Amino acid sequence: MEKVVSGIRPTGNLHLGNYFGAVKSFVKMQDDYDSLFFIADWHSLTTSPKPEDIQNSARTIMAEYLACGIDPEKAKIYIQSDVKETLELYLFLNMNMYLGELERVTTFKEKARKQPDNVNAGLLTYPTLMAADILQHRAKKVPVGKDQEQNMEMARKCARRFNNIYGVEFFPEPQNFYFNAEAVKVPGLDGSGKMGKSEGNCIYLRDEDKVISKKVMKAVTDMGPQEPNSPKPEVIENLFTFLKICSTPDTYDYFNEKWNDCTIRYGDLKKQIAEDIIKTVAPIRERIQDYCSNAEYLDKVAREGAEVARESAAATLREVRKIIGFRN
Ligand code: TRP
Repeated sequence: MEKVVSGIRPTGNLHLGNYFGAVKSFVKMQDDYDSLFFIADWHSLTTSPKPEDIQNSARTIMAEYLACGIDPEKAKIYIQSDVKETLELYLFLNMNMYLGELERVTTFKEKARKQPDNVNAGLLTYPTLMAADILQHRAKKVPVGKDQEQNMEMARKCARRFNNIYGVEFFPEPQNFYFNAEAVKVPGLDGSGKMGKSEGNCIYLRDEDKVISKKVMKAVTDMGPQEPNSPKPEVIENLFTFLKICSTPDTYDYFNEKWNDCTIRYGDLKKQIAEDIIKTVAPIRERIQDYCSNAEYLDKVAREGAEVARESAAATLREVRKIIGFRN
């Protein structure tokens, strides 16, 4: 089976946008690929989290992943900092990367602008660490969002350059990979096109039913359809997207007809959406709680994940040392 690797930084809880986007495709992927998902806790150090947050957030995300359906019998979940081999490869790869090209990465420039007092070397070499995450497994496919394209380009550069310098065909060039074209972009409830942490418009998988209802009932709407069969403005289309992803097709059709014959009542529509989102989220929330209260199980999953990841990385590093000229 082909190997797939992906990581996420533990910077907050999963929301519906994560769920219907990346996470659902991870869940599907685990059947078809040799999948390794990791929690990038080293990467989160570029923004100086508190010591207690580091452990907790890794655990939390792990519980959320499991609750969404990632099955440790199929996919391995590990915590980046459990696999020290990554650091050795990070060091080797950094020797081949140039200041100029690292400085030109847009995410670096953005971060440097956002935190001018803390433009640290870790921030600069973020793409190298990410390359090490991937190349240590010699993975060919990496499911990531569009925002990671430049980091992926850097990972390919790391692979190519290593191969060229040593005259080997050792590292494959990892490709960005989107598992299902149908991955949905979940809109915001504030009328914006995207649900996102920084947008502050999220329904979290941990939200209680009441919180979800409140958020949905506050969703932005308009004056209603002015004539039959008129096209839906974006804010309304957004609400219908929620029907599409959380409700039955019949429910969608029912409200669509009501829109078309101008008898739609937004209060009813929102109530229905809230109810159906709750149907999706509540069981996940309950599973998150179960997993969170089972620290022993979470540790076991992390330990087993780390073992597999370490083995895979160690095999790569043995070769890499030999290629560079070190003895094992
Ligand atoms: N940079 C990624 C992000 O911000 C997280 C990440 C770190 C990653 N290492 C990775 C993703 C390796 C894929 C593969 O989302």
